[in-house]
Amino acid sequence: MTEPLPPVFNRKNPLIAKLCSKKLLTEGCETKRTWHLEIDLLGSGLSFTPGDSLALLAQNDPAVANELIETLGFSGDETVLNTAKEETTLSKALVENYVITTPDKKLLRSIAEKTGNTELSSLLEPEKKKDLADHLWGRDIIDVLRENTEAKFEASEFVALLKKLNVRLYSIASSLAYHPDKVDLTVAIVEYESKGRKRQGVCSSWISERVTEDCSIPCFITPGKGFRLPEADEDVPIIMCGPGTGIAPFRAFLQERKKTNAKGEAWLFFGEIHEQSCYFYKDEWEEYLADGTLNKVSTAWSRDQDEKVYVQHKIIEEGAHFWSYLEKGAIFYVCGDAERMAPDVDKALHQVIMQHGGKSEEEAAEYVSEMKAGKRYRRDVY
Ligand SMILES: Cc1cc2nc3c(=O)[nH]c(=O)nc-3n(C[C@H](O)[C@H](O)[C@H](O)COP(=O)(O)OP(=O)(O)OC[C@H]3O[C@@H](n4cnc5c(N)ncnc54)[C@H](O)[C@@H]3O)c2cc1C
Ligand SMILES: NC(=O)c1ccc[n+]([C@@H]2O[C@H](COP(=O)([O-])OP(=O)(O)OC[C@H]3O[C@@H](n4cnc5c(N)ncnc54)[C@H](OP(=O)(O)O)[C@@H]3O)[C@@H](O)[C@H]2O)c1
Repeated sequence: MTEPLPPVFNRKNPLIAKLCSKKLLTEGCETKRTWHLEIDLLGSGLSFTPGDSLALLAQNDPAVANELIETLGFSGDETVLNTAKEETTLSKALVENYVITTPDKKLLRSIAEKTGNTELSSLLEPEKKKDLADHLWGRDIIDVLRENTEAKFEASEFVALLKKLNVRLYSIASSLAYHPDKVDLTVAIVEYESKGRKRQGVCSSWISERVTEDCSIPCFITPGKGFRLPEADEDVPIIMCGPGTGIAPFRAFLQERKKTNAKGEAWLFFGEIHEQSCYFYKDEWEEYLADGTLNKVSTAWSRDQDEKVYVQHKIIEEGAHFWSYLEKGAIFYVCGDAERMAPDVDKALHQVIMQHGGKSEEEAAEYVSEMKAGKRYRRDVY
């Protein structure tokens, strides 16, 4: 008898999972909320490898959908087509199917045409991409409609100008070998205020705050594209740099290494704003330091003193030790913020190689290129 094939989950055929537990990782912190979430996989057949991400198909906040309906002058009961071209109510379509926050160019073009707003038309010219992005920063569809009140729509016409709600990826923070029936995530809620209204990221707020244990979580795996534990030589040392939610895949890595009794040295860099309220998974790292799963943890608390202290400062401070790991063939993993952290950590890597490897700027660049070619510098940044 042949084994049945494992189920295939994807955007069209997602696994419908349930939340089993959650914990605020930033208890006592007034500036950010990051959640540890555990999703039940029992009996699902969903399989993944440390380094993979979970893609979530979120729903919009019904309060935002209602505010949009009110701004448009509708009741919400109007019949429209959803993204599968089936009839549904406007309310349901706006919560479940369409992007109702960031306006798409198609919608902006229609608003500009209906109102004769030449400034908006001009921002839609192909060479004005950056100006349009600046204009839209902190502005959502409701803002644009309120600034262009003469733009009137039929419900179905309006919905046809919206984009399909897209998936969001979250690095998996657990190992199946360690916890066979669940998948953990570390999710920071995107929150800010703009034009007098409180705004929240669609998916981070949905999965952290609106999803309860009875709700469906449509999800599937997206593979980690080379963001993997050492493939062949399990003695190879690893250095993991994961400030903020960048810590997630390293929790999966360390659980897996604990389970497989990996021999190579492991060094973790973590950074957040305050040690007291934002030291994610501290107890676990302490346990791993005690049992040898981890050899070293270096932390950077950015707002516990006047000057910012970031992970790259710790890398430079520990430069000699860092260089000794690199010379032993260590793989350097970086996960988290792509815009600010990853380029700064990259600069610190070059600096350590120059300072402790006695190399020129060009030689350090060459050394890093060789690390990349040898898959010893792996990044998963967003
Ligand atoms: C491979 C990968 C792995 C990831 N892993 C994780 C993870 O482990 N944990 C995690 O939390 N996230 C992770 N992310 C990010 C995650 O996918 C989402 O992008 C994030 O949660 C935001 O999605 P959202 O739907 O909540 O926000 P959205 O609704 O998409 O809103 C975000 C948008 O809001 C706007 N915005 C944000 N701040 C401001 C501001 N101050 N002013 C004005 N506008 C603003 C920006 O346009 C921004 O693009 C990962 C991303 C990738 C690609
Ligand atoms: N905008 C969004 O939609 C959204 C939502 C969630 C995550 N993300 C992305 O994911 C990233 C991760 O967010 P997060 O909550 O996990 O944490 P984060 O914002 O990256 O913050 C984690 C730590 O990194 C510090 N940091 C800031 N700039 C840095 C730099 N140049 N080098 C090194 N460290 C730096 C932060 O310090 P300070 O804050 O004190 O400077 C904080 O101590 C975000 O930065 C963002 O790019 C985006």
